[in-house]
Amino acid sequence: MDTKSPKDSRTIVTDLVLPSETNPIGNMFGGELLARMDRAASIAARRHSRRIVVTVSVNHVAFNKMIPLGSVVTVEAHVSRAFKSSMEVYMDVWIEDRESGLRSKANEAIYTFVAVDEMGNPVPVPALIPETKLEKERFEAALRRKQLSLVIAGKMSPRDATELKALFE
Ligand SMILES: CC(C)(COP(=O)(O)OP(=O)(O)OC[C@H]1O[C@@H](n2cnc3c(N)ncnc32)[C@H](O)[C@@H]1OP(=O)(O)O)[C@@H](O)C(=O)NCCC(=O)NCCS
Repeated sequence: MDTKSPKDSRTIVTDLVLPSETNPIGNMFGGELLARMDRAASIAARRHSRRIVVTVSVNHVAFNKMIPLGSVVTVEAHVSRAFKSSMEVYMDVWIEDRESGLRSKANEAIYTFVAVDEMGNPVPVPALIPETKLEKERFEAALRRKQLSLVIAGKMSPRDATELKALFE
């Protein structure tokens, strides 16, 4: 199976925030952003694997900044590491200033997807080779995040979480 780089899965989804997508103080609902990120991340995971993909975990979401009604929101997703059948997808969320057009970072999120066959059984995915400094940092930390997610889900014993244990040694 050929290897892939993060740029092979790069996915950019840009859309407006409409009135039905806001809370009573006129900012975007968190759930609306989660759904947009899930769509962008699933396209990235599909581009990496060229398989059917399903969300298995939302590992991290930080809502750092309010996103007002009418904002132009861009979700940029890349596969940051591929394991056997699972892929970590890292997302950066940007909003655009109406007058200057300058982008500022609103949020970040990390989701995990699994490639499956038509019966829903996990199937192998291509390995990912990071290229830039940021891609390498995200790749390195992904195994720690996978172990943390598996421990929280009760699918891995903390005793086996070697990367997590190494943090405290
Ligand atoms: C995703 C799914 C196919 C995995 O099935 P499973 O029997 O748990 O399969 P496995 O235990 O072999 O896990 C598959 C991979 O997912 C990883 N995984 C499972 N749970 C995980 C979690 N909580 N966090 C991170 N990775 C996880 C495993 O480590 C494994 O990775 P690897 O193959 O790269 O090493 C199954 O759980 C499923 O169908 N879930 C529902 C998915 C869905 O419908 N999503 C939309 C929700 S509305």
